[in-house]
Amino acid sequence: MSELNTNANATVKAAWARGALARVLWDEAQIQQRVRELGAEIARDYQALLGEALLEEPPLIVGIFRGAIVFLADLMRAMPIPVEVDYVQLYSYGKGAEAGEIQLLRDLGTPAQGRHVLLVEDIVDTGQTLEFLREHLEARGAASLRVCALIDKRPRRRVPVQLDYVGFVLEEDAFVVGYGLDYAERYRNLPFVAALKPEAVRRA
Ligand code: IMP
Repeated sequence: MSELNTNANATVKAAWARGALARVLWDEAQIQQRVRELGAEIARDYQALLGEALLEEPPLIVGIFRGAIVFLADLMRAMPIPVEVDYVQLYSYGKGAEAGEIQLLRDLGTPAQGRHVLLVEDIVDTGQTLEFLREHLEARGAASLRVCALIDKRPRRRVPVQLDYVGFVLEEDAFVVGYGLDYAERYRNLPFVAALKPEAVRRA
């Protein structure tokens, strides 16, 4: 256990040492607290929506990989109701921090027809990813679709999207990493969410 903690500290120290992180926006305790609140709220809402049917046909939680890996793992354990879990993986033809055209790399393994789907996203930026997935899931006949995003990053929104559950709101146009979020595939394993220094971010 102590060895594991040492490794985690080493990861955090190395991230700071590279000098790319500007500041912590939400620390580990704040994130864990918010995730517990979200899990309880979502569970209550599905209980109200589905009643007894919850046991036969639990909501299908769909993580958007890879960014939502960490959030999904914590959130589903904070929901004291039956659930099924699946994931989709997308590829965005963007360079650096700029979003581009979206392609589905991995579709659901579970048929969405007639299911109550909860999409779990790490961060909503322009809204294009969610718009793409909403159309995709509606075309596959989902009975209902709700969205839970850890972070609602508002300044660059291009497509209006409905977010049913939001962990944190980001009003500034910062690029953030940690708790599953990456920059060039790094920093996903940080236990907190931090803003990258603007000079460390390359926009296409
Ligand atoms: P959207 O389609 O523009 O809403 O972008 C959503 C996706 O872009 C997220 O799922 C992330 O993968 C990525 N993204 C947008 N902003 C950030 C950020 O600040 N940090 C890390 N990834 C981000």
